[in-house]
Amino acid sequence: MSRPAVRRRPAADAASITLGTILDAVPFACAAFSRGSGALVAGNRCFFDAFSALPGHRERDPLLAALGAGPPADGAEVRAPHSGHWYALHWRPLSLEKGEVELMTAVDISERLKALDTHKHQQEKLLFTSRLMSVGEMAATLAHELNQPLAAIVNYLNGSLRLVGQAGGPAQVERALLAARTQAEHASAVIARVREFVRAREPKRDAHEIGTIAGTVLELLRLEAERQQLCIELALAPGLPAVFADRVMVEQVLLNLVKNAIEAMRGVPGGQRELRIEGRVNLDDEVEVRVLDRGGGLSPAESEQLFSPFFTTKSDGLGIGLAICRSIIEYHEGRLFFEARPGGGSVFAFTLPRAEGRI
Ligand SMILES: Nc1ncnc2c1ncn2[C@@H]1O[C@H](COP(=O)(O)OP(=O)(O)O)[C@@H](O)[C@H]1O
Ligand SMILES: [Mg+2]
Repeated sequence: MSRPAVRRRPAADAASITLGTILDAVPFACAAFSRGSGALVAGNRCFFDAFSALPGHRERDPLLAALGAGPPADGAEVRAPHSGHWYALHWRPLSLEKGEVELMTAVDISERLKALDTHKHQQEKLLFTSRLMSVGEMAATLAHELNQPLAAIVNYLNGSLRLVGQAGGPAQVERALLAARTQAEHASAVIARVREFVRAREPKRDAHEIGTIAGTVLELLRLEAERQQLCIELALAPGLPAVFADRVMVEQVLLNLVKNAIEAMRGVPGGQRELRIEGRVNLDDEVEVRVLDRGGGLSPAESEQLFSPFFTTKSDGLGIGLAICRSIIEYHEGRLFFEARPGGGSVFAFTLPRAEGRI
């Protein structure tokens, strides 16, 4: 005798229990919503862990509104405002005994996005390093070839200074010799730092005053400025905050910019030469240093190539000054840029972060 086929009526929530049990086996947030009313039919533990803090999570539409998503769309990427996690939402229609539901899966993609971000960051860093390397490789050659003679110059000058002292020699010679020694020593320091930089050693960042850095640069350029009958005006905003930077590197940048400015005014009549160094805090709360000249300025085509290594319009130019300057400033999380100066000439400006809160 065959047993009568008993067709048990499902309990009121049997379908949801079954579905809930199945969903619980899924390792990411999963929930079913009634196609008609949009009410939550079942959700797994991951779903409640991820979304129960959101208002209206028991209804499809308020939940989507809270996630900033439109109507159910496959693959939408949304950010849960309460946790900051990112989810990829997928929807599938499902026919259950009780009716039609829409099954939502929400895969947490925060880690993946973070990994992508890190990858992008690393790519950018690599790009920056490779640009630095091409400039750096050349700098390394220069450093090697220049270091020996520079060391010799310092020795000769020290010897001469001793002789002058003995003979009570003319003060002017002594001044020139001292200046020459300062130049040579600075060049050596720069080369040493370039070498360190090429060896990818971390520069030494600390709190430094722009006034002191500008003072060193002006001292180094004093003779050259005198020779060109040029008065370099220093206009720093009162109370200019200290910057978080490697001192020698920033000196190097400012020296390059001021030298370029002096060179740009070679052909300008004495009275019209005007070189200003300005310092101020900009709207982004960074320290901005600006070098302004009254030279010929730059054509739009020139200004596009300005920062490419080996771009020069000078017969005696190397064309690496600005490329190195930009690498240095970008290393310091700043920007180096060119602007046309109203009334003629150029402005080369760079930004540096304030030291406050960094040391
Ligand atoms: N202040 C300036 N005014 C006009 N042109 C400038 C100025 N500074 C730089 N330039 C242009 O940018 C080019 C590249 O400068 P740089 O990288 O310092 O190399 P270099 O000084 O050896 O030519 C210069 O040859 C010049 O054409
Ligand atoms: Mg230059």
